Amino acid sequence: MPMFPDAWMNELLTRSDIVSVVSEYTKLVPKGQRLWGLCPFHGEKTASFSVTADKQLYYCFGCHAGGNVIHFVMELEKLPFAEAVKLLAQRAGMELPEQSDDVRVRQERARRERLYASCKEAAKYYHEQLLGEDGKDARAYLGKRSLSAATVRKFGLGYAKPGWENLCKHLTAMGYRESELIDAGLAIKGTRADQSCYDAYRNRVIFPIIGTNAKVLGFGARAMGDEQPKYLNTGDTPIFNKRDNLYALNTFKGKRFSDAVIVEGYMDVISLHQAGVVNAVASLGTALTASQARLLKRYVPRVYLCYDGDSAGQNATLRALDVIAAQSLSVRVIVIPNGMDPDDYVKKFGKEAFESLKDSALTGPAFRLEHMASRHDLASEDGREAYAMEACTLIATLQPVEQDRYFTLVARKTGIAVNALKRQGAGAKPGEENRAVKFRNTREKKPGHGGPRRQQFERMLLGCIAGNYDAAMEAMRSIEGDFWSVPAFERFSAELLCAYAQTKSPNLQLILSALSAEDAELIAGALVARESGENTKTIALDCIRAIERMDLVERIRALNREAEREEISADRRLELAAEIAKLTANMRELSDREEQ
Ligand code: UTP
Ligand code: MN
Repeated sequence: MPMFPDAWMNELLTRSDIVSVVSEYTKLVPKGQRLWGLCPFHGEKTASFSVTADKQLYYCFGCHAGGNVIHFVMELEKLPFAEAVKLLAQRAGMELPEQSDDVRVRQERARRERLYASCKEAAKYYHEQLLGEDGKDARAYLGKRSLSAATVRKFGLGYAKPGWENLCKHLTAMGYRESELIDAGLAIKGTRADQSCYDAYRNRVIFPIIGTNAKVLGFGARAMGDEQPKYLNTGDTPIFNKRDNLYALNTFKGKRFSDAVIVEGYMDVISLHQAGVVNAVASLGTALTASQARLLKRYVPRVYLCYDGDSAGQNATLRALDVIAAQSLSVRVIVIPNGMDPDDYVKKFGKEAFESLKDSALTGPAFRLEHMASRHDLASEDGREAYAMEACTLIATLQPVEQDRYFTLVARKTGIAVNALKRQGAGAKPGEENRAVKFRNTREKKPGHGGPRRQQFERMLLGCIAGNYDAAMEAMRSIEGDFWSVPAFERFSAELLCAYAQTKSPNLQLILSALSAEDAELIAGALVARESGENTKTIALDCIRAIERMDLVERIRALNREAEREEISADRRLELAAEIAKLTANMRELSDREEQ
């Protein structure tokens, strides 16, 4: 990510005091070692948002937003890294550095510009073909799907006519190299000796995919008959990755919506827009990714998931719910009656009918409960009981104040008394910690590795080693490869060690600036509480021991669980006993060390 020279970045960070930048957005009042204000990232009435001037960091104890001044601007102004840096540079009255000193960077940028340009020309070509003489069948197809000429223009739809080299010829005549067309996904490398490449899309209607930077990045291409696959899509290219983009999000530019509707397909989006639902985007046929959810969060505070009613769509909804919750975006699920897709529904019933589906949209838990119910036979007593038990386990993981309405919902569905359900729920699982926190802590977590308590110690340890060279060296001696349970922690500690290899007091701000906003957010909490006093090394070692002890307890517990099972062989049982004895000895050794 670092596209700016270190020295220049240093200057920028020095001149962009976080206190004065943040103060432009929220009023800060000093209290204790920090400045406090109302969090600009989430609505609140009492201040839980803090800024530490000496560390130049912000951190919200409510929503856990955090980072340095660059991340602050990125998150609040919804800007990518480079743009946030430019904004701060402007504010500080600094000239942007000559970015061309790195020849490779410059070449890479030039290459990408060529790919953007070739995609733009391709889109233009396809569009002209659609409107021209050869486009009659394609126009008829789009007409059959009720798209107006204005819609065709708005989305820049096009047509790739039959034939192997139409686009290739057109673009090479314009001076584009074949390798560029292949890299952009427009052409495919030929296998015959006399043919170097051929058109990727033939006899298909073309949907250009335009990024939020207003550039054409790739294409979806739909067969007009029953040919398979129905849609061909641009694969990963240097300028496009479907996981990082949402179809039609480019149309949000300059608009303010209170929410967005996420649908599955190109045609769903286009029909909705044509009907007047202009806040619809599509996740490009994939399960919604974290990166797409983060992108959306820059534009709207709430999303409606509106996937198809089939089982694929419902499963995609379940997965998307987790992804969205992890970004602290508010989410509701629109269920379209009769298994219709959004395209069919809005064509048949119109905008008002579609918008009114929002009123009956389900919360995440309600959708899960509905989905759970569909897998039980609620006509039988056994089925209702099985459903109720499963449902209570889910409800028990919610915030206490949320739980009530879902118990009521399940009671209504099963006829089981609310009180019985509540007792069931109470036995299901001990009261869970704050849900938002839980999601944040567990997102991107490695499987089978640590819980929230372990992460607290990891975070404290990070704070210690970030502020103190000796502590870092000492800690690194005692921890092994797979130590960190959160990938962001691992990445940060790796960066930190690299920096320590060069200097005993590295510039934390620079290291932090090189992290994604998402990683920075997870790290900020640790750095705000950074230790740099005399006993930092001791605290670091205590953290490591606490973590080692937790891991040992966890492993011993797992082995004991296995040993309790009746079906294991006598050999395995002996093995388990030996292993447990060994680990217990390790435990004792650890305690002895602690007492010293
Ligand atoms: P659907 O099969 O639901 O298509 O796939 P659709 O959106 O209803 O399309 P029409 O109405 O038949 O034209 C939903 C999305 O999944 C992706 C596309 O993004 C599509 O819009 N998809 C589907 C593919 O990428 N390839 C395929 O072969 C099918
Ligand atoms: Mn459809």
